[in-house]
Amino acid sequence: MRIFFTGGSGKAGHHVAPYLAAQGHQVVNADLAPLGHPDVVDLRVDLTDAGEVYSALAGVPTPGDFDDTGLDLTRGSAYDAVVHFAAVPRPQVVPDAATYATNVLSQYNVFEAATRLGIRKVVFASSETTYGVCFGQGERKPLYVPVDEEHPVVPEDSYAMSKVAGEVTARSFHARTGADLYGLRINNVIEPHEYAEMFPAFLDDPALRRRNLFAYIDVRDLGQMTLRCLETDGLGFEIFNVANADMSVAATTREVIDRFYEGVEVRREMGRDETFYSIDKARALLGYEPEHSWRDVLTDPRAGA
Ligand SMILES: NC(=O)c1ccc[n+]([C@@H]2O[C@H](COP(=O)([O-])OP(=O)(O)OC[C@H]3O[C@@H](n4cnc5c(N)ncnc54)[C@H](O)[C@@H]3O)[C@@H](O)[C@H]2O)c1
Repeated sequence: MRIFFTGGSGKAGHHVAPYLAAQGHQVVNADLAPLGHPDVVDLRVDLTDAGEVYSALAGVPTPGDFDDTGLDLTRGSAYDAVVHFAAVPRPQVVPDAATYATNVLSQYNVFEAATRLGIRKVVFASSETTYGVCFGQGERKPLYVPVDEEHPVVPEDSYAMSKVAGEVTARSFHARTGADLYGLRINNVIEPHEYAEMFPAFLDDPALRRRNLFAYIDVRDLGQMTLRCLETDGLGFEIFNVANADMSVAATTREVIDRFYEGVEVRREMGRDETFYSIDKARALLGYEPEHSWRDVLTDPRAGA
């Protein structure tokens, strides 16, 4: 596949874009900053500019494509799929209004250009924050656990609001074009080196993970999830939670419920260390199965659960 990947220079993208290239796909990284990876072509695009986005998606993807005499760029796009990860990735990086404007405009421009130019697959980054717990004022609890994609989204911050707007926008472009637009409600992204740096503190104090519903997503499993979305056609508009199978704390599921989730409905029996961030839908519709865990890396005795 020829993949137009936005945000490939960022925390998640600089793992996922090269991973897709390593699977044999041709990946162009559309970002304000270059990635500089030998297997990924960098294209500097400001995604808030609709003209730039259209032009980028309608252009010749890579230098090698100049030799493809079968490539017809007089209509539509040469790309087969778009992965849209670029964003202001949380509040308090820029003022709230700028977070909202950047993300909403970028999402709209990418979805419109992609679907109008005939690209039938768009995978885009939404966020766990849409559920309102992460950046809520004070303590917000989920209505029920495990939190699945049917849980209400009631965010209080501009970043999560922008992600809800992105989901609504994607659904509308699907309604008009019938294209596949899959939104990933990504949990807190963890790079492999961060286990040793960050997790010992999480094991000492599980309260540090309350705002993430005690979950996490290994960036390599996010890569797997993205690939599965690209390989699974015909689902239309869908939203998927993305997380690892276990929690990012050593406390058991029961202990976390007793300490943090008083009054929260527990909808089904849960495993000893099972994540509160349900990945059942991704498993069922995409065959997603996370392969990584902090428990494989840390030598802390609490990892051997
Ligand atoms: N990191 C997390 O824990 C997390 C959790 C949930 C969802 N997400 C979402 O996943 C995606 C990737 O997150 P990340 O942590 O890699 O973020 P990041 O900030 O590290 O990377 C985002 C990239 O987008 C690019 N970008 C921003 N504005 C742009 C514009 N106008 N035009 C072109 N490029 C632009 C930046 O240059 C950057 O390389 C984001 O959509 C984020 O909201 C991240």
